Amino acid sequence: MCGIIGILGREPVAPLLVDGLKRLEYRGYDSAGVATLEEGVLTRRRAEGKLRNLEGRLEAEPLAGHSGIGHTRWATHGAPTEANAHPHIGPGVAVVHNGIIENFRELRAELTGEGVTFATDTDTEVVCQMIGAYLGKGGTPTDAVVKTLARLEGAFALAILFDGEDDLLIGARRGSPLAVGYGEGEMYLGSDAIALAPFTSRIAYLDDGDWVVLTREGATIRDEAGMVAERAIQTSSASAAMVDKGNYRHFMAKEIHEQPDVVARTLAHYLDLNAMTTKVPEGLPFDFANLQRVVITACGTAFYAGLVAKYWFERLARLPVDIDVASEFRYRETPLDPGGLALFISQSGETADTLASLRYCKAEKQHIGAVVNVKESTIARESDVIFPTIAGPEIGVASTKAFTCQLSVLASMAVMAGRQRGVLSADDEGRLVRALTETPRYMVDALKLEPQIERLARNLAKASDILYLGRGSSYPLAMEGALKLKEISYIHAEGYAAGELKHGPIALIDETMPVIVIAPYDKVFEKTASNMQEVAARGGRIILITDQKGAAAAGVETMETLVMPDVPATIAPMVYSIPIQLLAYHTAVFMGTDVDQPRNLAKSVTVE
Ligand code: F6R
Repeated sequence: MCGIIGILGREPVAPLLVDGLKRLEYRGYDSAGVATLEEGVLTRRRAEGKLRNLEGRLEAEPLAGHSGIGHTRWATHGAPTEANAHPHIGPGVAVVHNGIIENFRELRAELTGEGVTFATDTDTEVVCQMIGAYLGKGGTPTDAVVKTLARLEGAFALAILFDGEDDLLIGARRGSPLAVGYGEGEMYLGSDAIALAPFTSRIAYLDDGDWVVLTREGATIRDEAGMVAERAIQTSSASAAMVDKGNYRHFMAKEIHEQPDVVARTLAHYLDLNAMTTKVPEGLPFDFANLQRVVITACGTAFYAGLVAKYWFERLARLPVDIDVASEFRYRETPLDPGGLALFISQSGETADTLASLRYCKAEKQHIGAVVNVKESTIARESDVIFPTIAGPEIGVASTKAFTCQLSVLASMAVMAGRQRGVLSADDEGRLVRALTETPRYMVDALKLEPQIERLARNLAKASDILYLGRGSSYPLAMEGALKLKEISYIHAEGYAAGELKHGPIALIDETMPVIVIAPYDKVFEKTASNMQEVAARGGRIILITDQKGAAAAGVETMETLVMPDVPATIAPMVYSIPIQLLAYHTAVFMGTDVDQPRNLAKSVTVE
């Protein structure tokens, strides 16, 4: 899940490529590089690590040229070194690539047999060496690319530049996203519209299998069969302004604090605040009343949002939910009755496994609904109906505001489903909608716990393992809390259903093990309180996140109790997300990790 960009411009392109790459850095930050045609000759600069290292390199050794390609890398094949950084260069050609060439070993062996010497460990290099080999046999750039594409297996987006061809850029898309940008006498390729936003808002998205030949005059797009294809030019709403951190030290902190606002905005999209009802989206292609079940598929944090939704749909709408992580679902060949609802949850809308699951469900004749934050994304475009989260751009790699906005959409949908299925009366709906509208206010209250959480985080930072426990809809939150902590603080953490404790993890408990218990005073609180007793009896150090009633009823000595506002049970997952996010954030800050761009991760996971 790298980011790629290509420009045929009218001015020096290196600074423009870097500007585009800044917007793509969320896709990977292991290395970065650009190549331009300096007086017709391919020349490149690359640097290991963050984009700022490449900027430094370019300051010391500027690159001229009006045509160029650029890349920001999340390493798959080959260590994140400068040698493995893109663009890769073969005879007469430079390539940037997002995705994985699955048959690269076979192609590499074949080319090596023909006398080609490889300079890197990457899968991408076979693409430029193969194009170079076809060029060497007298093929035109386009022929060489077409012949090479026919040999490639896997998922990829490519941008390709040729020696001596100042007015030619070729792109190809299979699996990984690629957009064409139209300027005035300038043309662009980019992984998404956000990368191209400073240059143009006129964007055409390539379909899977498409390849495109760009000159400064325009683009000819062809489909997999080589037929000229029309892809609509749309006006992108992506903003050219870079999102900044405001007065916050990290994007993650800013995004945590934005939640009351963005959750309010998202809820307003789904709720009629005058009538106190849910708003059924116009043209909804199905009626919840006719559904037998819902299938939810997602990855990571978005999967945990789906897991919370299972509790809501089943309780509020008596609608069974099957949920799985997309990487498993896509290969499971689960039978689906035609006409069912398959829901996909994704902040980026580009996650490869989620997209593959969507395509499986489409082939199985399901209604496809997507809860997405990026409306121009592939998942959004391939869905029958979009349920947008209105979180705004999420820059911190660890998802926070996208998660609570996903929860807000899903809670509203569950209430809508309950009403359509006759499980909820108009009064019930009104009561639940009112509760939902109070979410932002309670989130503001929860944010006030930050000083206490910051102090607590100093203690947590000393732990090597942390257990999170929750029951009911707090169980997915326990897993989300553990995920958030491990991804940004690198402390090992596990989230468990509180009732599962005695089936194994209790063996881990001793006086060095912090156990974070998420337990609003709800109908399962007493059960969780018993589990806390089991932890206390073994010397475990409990951090309890609960409300006034829970704190009074816990009956156990805690290392710390975070007393949350008393909130209606339905909105507790949104409100209780705040302390678990803040705990992870402050622990990571205390440990000095790279909070917004933690090691080994990327924001958009476009490879399997
Ligand atoms: C964790 C996190 C990831 C994403 C996952 C899915 O903080 O952000 O687990 O939730 O990679 O990404 P999207 O939502 O873009 O499909």
